[in-house]
Amino acid sequence: MAPTQKPTAGAGVNEAEIAVHWKEEELYKPSKKFIEQANLTDPKIRERFSEKNFPDCYVDYAEMLSWYQRWNKVLDTSEPPFWKWFVGGKLNVSYNCVDRHLAKYKNKAALIFVPEPENEAIVSITYQELYQRVNEVAAVLRDFAGLKAGDRVTIHMPMIAELPITMLACARLGVVHSVVFGGFSGEACGLRAADSGSKVLIYADSYYRSGKLVDHKAAAEIAIETAQKEGQNIEKVLIWRRHPGKNGSAVPMAAGRDFFMDEVLLEYRNRKVEPVHRNAEDPLFLMYTSGTTGKPKGCQHRTGGYLAYVTGTSKYIQDIHPDDVYWCMADIGWITGHSYIVYGPLSLAATSVIYEGVPVYPDAGRVWRIAERLGVNIFHTSPTAIRMLRKSGPEEPKKYDYHFKHMTTVGEPIEPEVWRWYYNTVGKQEAVIVDTWWQTENGGFLCSTVPGIDAMKPGSAGPGVPGIYPTIYDENNQEIKAGSGKAGNICIRNPWPGIMQTIWGDHDRFVRQYYQKYCKNPQSKDWHDWPYFAADGAVLAADGYFRILGRVDDVINVAGHRLGTKELESACLTVPEVAEAAVVPVVDEVKGRMPEIYISLKPGVQASQAEMQEKIVRTIETMIGKIARPKTVHVVPDMPKTRSGKIMRRVLAAISNRMNTGDTSTLANPDVVEQIRVEVQGKAPVVTREGPEDLKTFGSVE
Ligand code: WTA
Repeated sequence: MAPTQKPTAGAGVNEAEIAVHWKEEELYKPSKKFIEQANLTDPKIRERFSEKNFPDCYVDYAEMLSWYQRWNKVLDTSEPPFWKWFVGGKLNVSYNCVDRHLAKYKNKAALIFVPEPENEAIVSITYQELYQRVNEVAAVLRDFAGLKAGDRVTIHMPMIAELPITMLACARLGVVHSVVFGGFSGEACGLRAADSGSKVLIYADSYYRSGKLVDHKAAAEIAIETAQKEGQNIEKVLIWRRHPGKNGSAVPMAAGRDFFMDEVLLEYRNRKVEPVHRNAEDPLFLMYTSGTTGKPKGCQHRTGGYLAYVTGTSKYIQDIHPDDVYWCMADIGWITGHSYIVYGPLSLAATSVIYEGVPVYPDAGRVWRIAERLGVNIFHTSPTAIRMLRKSGPEEPKKYDYHFKHMTTVGEPIEPEVWRWYYNTVGKQEAVIVDTWWQTENGGFLCSTVPGIDAMKPGSAGPGVPGIYPTIYDENNQEIKAGSGKAGNICIRNPWPGIMQTIWGDHDRFVRQYYQKYCKNPQSKDWHDWPYFAADGAVLAADGYFRILGRVDDVINVAGHRLGTKELESACLTVPEVAEAAVVPVVDEVKGRMPEIYISLKPGVQASQAEMQEKIVRTIETMIGKIARPKTVHVVPDMPKTRSGKIMRRVLAAISNRMNTGDTSTLANPDVVEQIRVEVQGKAPVVTREGPEDLKTFGSVE
């Protein structure tokens, strides 16, 4: 089958709309073998979850859980946009992910931990063992650390089995966990700990990364100091040792503050802790993410609606059955890991694989060896990882005898070329692919094909998942019609159980950021008047498939992870020589986008390019983490600015990506644009290229 070349219409485009030229890709059908075993094959599913059955359709998801007390109201809209789900219901998340599986599956592996060093033994933890360990840790958290329902605790840990065990122990007590990605710096962790008001930090002493044992406890010291500066005192630090009984960190322990978990646990062996009955609307966890303003925001997720939503989507979209071996390569420190390594899969009694290390360590075959050895049949990863695996070993998957029935891609748009390699080579043309579009704020998938029903289209996420009604609005609040070829802002018209409750400690920002832009009537109690604004650009094809273009705000998606340009810019401004800083995304072959930094120096300051590059990179690594490391740092004489003094990041992004800078004559300092261009691109004549859509609209929405 040759792809049908169908350029979409670009005519009639006004300023509020952006013409998008792209060819329609051919469709791929799920195999008969997959459909025969799929959890969801009812062609009426979208009708069952359609607006006429909303919100009661979501009872289907809630009934996948065990409740102490059934809800009396599915959706309460009395305080828009603070939706409440399954009101009056009571449940416990750790009971649902662990205890309830013991009757049938106690000897089945719940978690399989794969250490990065290949000579270290793989560890399987059965549901029975998980039950024991979650109880013991819950006992430590309650009786040793003094934590109780509603308290927050910050967890800064790498990918080891103790991380989900700790999260489940928190959930057992109703303690609200805030997991900070292990690769973030101590300072980033400290700021989040302070914002959440955590008195207890949970750490690991060390972990393996690319063959080296990283001293992670060093970050704890900085986190504590940073939190203290913000006025938050850390009273206790509980430290999991990567090798129990052996120290993996050179940092000394502070007496009375720091405790090794393996030592404390000796006193709590075999202890049992009754799961605390939580209200459906009690918060389960916080997950900090970058937004348009400098400070990361704590997305607060609820207990009942969240667990129902991740369970339902894990069953229908991930097609998880209890006998599947499921491996999601994300990090648990991101939302994907929370929803689709820990809570969704364990709620369905699956076996969930946790891999500690780098996908291509020690060589390009590692991932496929793990898949073969463990019999993984569902595989979940990001376009960045797929690009990396393809680059380092394009033929490698063929050498291993594994068979996936299902594969997921998440986090960034996937190029159709990369999609086809994933399908043909990784999936061996046997596996279905779901391209799932969603966000930290959303709890679970928003757009995706239903794998046992819908055809796949490379590069398109697909329609809204059952119960999600997406649409695209232009800047004039008009809905953009399917098949028009015009891009706009993707919004979700309705509430759903996985949506965050609020931003921790900042209800106004929650309303402002997600609902203000397209709210039809702020007085209305009708959910139809409150579309959710996702801050992503998208195009809707005639067949109802959404293609996501990328962020329309000041957020850069690096390797599937969100970085706020303002966060990076504030970090740059702490370097004494720097007067102004602007951060823009630049295309990177593997990571998708990377930050590129422009700085101007304070008057009279002399510093070389190399010197400034070194200082800026070091500062960013310390304040945020290696993940935010810029591709290049440019020292420029001045920033291009509007007459009102606003830095024109879009002009800089165009220069970095060799795109057309557009009309710059109205700037306060138009001459500087050419100076910067020569500085960045060299003296050669200007050659511009079209560039991807997200770069054209970068920073266009506040
Ligand atoms: C982007 C990750 C295209 C998007 C779950 C979104 C995607 C941001 C996709 C959220 C996808 C996520 N196709 N783009 N399948 N999935 N994105 O909060 O820009 O880390 O707004 O959540 O990633 O990133 P976050």
